[in-house]
Amino acid sequence: MKTVLITGVAGFLGSHLADSFLARGYKVSGIDNFIGGYKENVSDEVLCHEVDLDNLTAIQPLFEGIDLVVHAACTAYEGLSVFSPALITRNTSQITANVMSASLRAGVRKLVYMSSMARYGTQEQLPFTEDMIPKPQDPYGIAKYASELLIENLSKTHGMEYSILVPHNIIGSRQKFDDPYRNVASIMVNRMLQGKQPIIYGSGDQKRCFSFIQDVIDPLMVACETSVVDGTVTNIGPDEEFISINDLAKTIADILSFDLDPIYMPGRPQEVFEANCSADKARTLLNYSTSTTLVDGLTQLSNWISERGAKPFEYHLPIEFVTEKTPKTWTQRLM
Ligand SMILES: NC(=O)c1ccc[n+]([C@@H]2O[C@H](COP(=O)([O-])OP(=O)(O)OC[C@H]3O[C@@H](n4cnc5c(N)ncnc54)[C@H](O)[C@@H]3O)[C@@H](O)[C@H]2O)c1
Repeated sequence: MKTVLITGVAGFLGSHLADSFLARGYKVSGIDNFIGGYKENVSDEVLCHEVDLDNLTAIQPLFEGIDLVVHAACTAYEGLSVFSPALITRNTSQITANVMSASLRAGVRKLVYMSSMARYGTQEQLPFTEDMIPKPQDPYGIAKYASELLIENLSKTHGMEYSILVPHNIIGSRQKFDDPYRNVASIMVNRMLQGKQPIIYGSGDQKRCFSFIQDVIDPLMVACETSVVDGTVTNIGPDEEFISINDLAKTIADILSFDLDPIYMPGRPQEVFEANCSADKARTLLNYSTSTTLVDGLTQLSNWISERGAKPFEYHLPIEFVTEKTPKTWTQRLM
C-alpha cells in the first residue's frame, strides 16, 4: 500500500487531499497543530498526529516509511504577515526546513509543496505564468518563495523528487470562515448571514480569480501521482472569471438575497492590486479544467456555511506590532 503524509491535514486543502488519497487506497497520515483548520475536517481513517512541525525531534519518526509527503501546513495569512512577520515566517519557511530535514533523513521518495500566488507579487503582465521571476511583496509571499528555494535546493542536492504547485484563492467546504484575517469570500458569507455588511479594503477594484476546491484537487492528484510536473513550478486554478472584490460582494449578496451596502475601509499595505494565474500549463500537463462556475462555487460555499450556521469571528492570532497602517477591523475587532 502506498503511504502519504500530509502536513496541515486539518486544513481546508490538506483535508480534501487526504480524502482523495483515501479514495485511491493510500494509507494516509497527517500532522497538524490546529493553529488553523478545524479538527472535524480530518477523516477518522487518517492517522492524525497533533504536533507542531517546528519540533523536528517530535516529527522525525512520523516521516519513517513514508513514500510521498504533501506539504500543505502553513499560516497562510498574507495580510496579517505585514504585521506578524515572525509568526508567519516560523509557520511557513521555518517549518518547511524541518519538513525537508525529516523527509530527507527518512528517505522519502517525493515531496509536493503547496506554494502560493503571493510568490509572484506584482508583475508587468497578467496572467502570471510560471516563467516569471518571483517578486513577493509581503512576508508571507517571501516565506512561501523561500520555502520553494529550500525545497528545490535540498531536493536537487540529495536526489529527492519534488513538485511545486501554486493554487490560488480556493473556495469550498471546510474553509475557515470565522477567521477575521483571511478568506475574503468566506468572511463575506459569514457576515451577510449575520445580517452584517461586508467590509471591503480599499476601492474594491482589486481583482482575483477564485478556484473551486474539487477543480483544484483533481490536478493536484495528477501532480502527486505522476512525474509530469516534477522539478518545476505549476499554477493550479482558473484564469477565467477574473472578478473585482466589489463584484464578488455583489455576487454573494445575490446568492444570499442580501441587501448590499458594503463598508469601505482603507486599503491594506502591500496588497497586490490585480492577480491571476495562467492555467495553460496545468491544462496541458495535469488535465486541468474549470468545471465549476464562480456562482456555483460561491453557492456551494454559502450553503456549507449556512448549514453550520454563522459564527462570531475569532481573533486567535497575535498582531506583533501595530502602526497607523494596521486595519482597524483587527485592532478594534470590528468584525
Ligand atoms: N486556500 C487557498 O486559497 C490557498 C491558496 C494558495 C496557496 N495555499 C496554500 O495551501 C496550503 C493550505 O492552505 P489552506 O487554505 O488549507 O490553509 P489552512 O489554514 O486551512 O490549513 C493549513 C493547516 O496547517 C496547519 N499548520 C500551520 N502551521 C503548523 C505547524 N507549525 N505545525 C503543524 N501544523 C501547522 C494549520 O493548523 C492548518 O490546519 C498552504 O500552504 C497555503 O499557503 C492555499
